[in-house]
Amino acid sequence: MTNSKSMLSVNHLNTHYGEFQALHNISLNIRSGSIVSIIGSNGAGKSTLLNTIMGISKPTNGSIVLDGKEIGGLPTNQVVANGISMSPEGSRVFEKMTVEENLLMGAYLKEARKKKNESLEKVYTLFPVLREKREQSASFLSGGQRQMLAIARGIMARPMLLFCDEISLGLAPVVIKDIYQKIKEINQEGMTIVLVEQDVKRSLKHSDYSYVMLKGQIVMEGNSSELSEEEVRDAYFGVNKYAKY
Ligand SMILES: Nc1ncnc2c1ncn2[C@@H]1O[C@H](COP(=O)(O)OP(=O)(O)OP(=O)(O)O)[C@@H](O)[C@H]1O
Ligand SMILES: [Mg+2]
Repeated sequence: MTNSKSMLSVNHLNTHYGEFQALHNISLNIRSGSIVSIIGSNGAGKSTLLNTIMGISKPTNGSIVLDGKEIGGLPTNQVVANGISMSPEGSRVFEKMTVEENLLMGAYLKEARKKKNESLEKVYTLFPVLREKREQSASFLSGGQRQMLAIARGIMARPMLLFCDEISLGLAPVVIKDIYQKIKEINQEGMTIVLVEQDVKRSLKHSDYSYVMLKGQIVMEGNSSELSEEEVRDAYFGVNKYAKY
């Protein structure tokens, strides 16, 4: 893992909402083939970071380099075409569409559309429940199934890099375990993954490398197996030496 090349490098990124600065000088490096977690409490800026990389929010300055190519400020469809897709916060699905129609929405760009049948087979193999329910309206899915659909829709874009924004929110522990197992399988097939999480223990357990965000800044980072849960928690809450942020 440590020798693999950089998939995504974010350098000195700032993002504002009007006068409010939500991201302060964010730099990070995601290695190809890894699972990286972004840990932080409510309002830390995790979704803003993902949304800025996806081109949903515009950076004020800084650079975003994906696989050697600058993508900072590109519109979202071009970011997706370059190889990043996202399972958005709140496992948003299109309620009025069937499960399969939802999945096909993830393959809306030309290159992904050409391979849509192969991709459908892949996500149905990974999530058999979605195959069973493919003709049903997404509104009938349970919370866990919706989350699986949101992840599967992200995969339909055939990304190199998949962003998962709070995939465990509101789900039962047994469902969370199942979803993280799938994330591991997706990663083992070669996809690089960024997980956004509020749960410190879970983040460290399921990732190779972690970044801790507090008030729009990165306050701690390191190999997940080497970070102390207690210190991460202090950074997360901004206590002790992290209080200055
Ligand atoms: N569209 C917006 N307009 C103005 N301020 C925003 C907007 N979206 C987010 N913010 C603010 O930016 C900061 C970071 O929010 P963000 O949603 O990125 O945090 P987060 O870490 O994803 O939190 P959560 O865990 O609750 O999802 C917060 O102070 C939030 O109130
Ligand atoms: Mg968020």
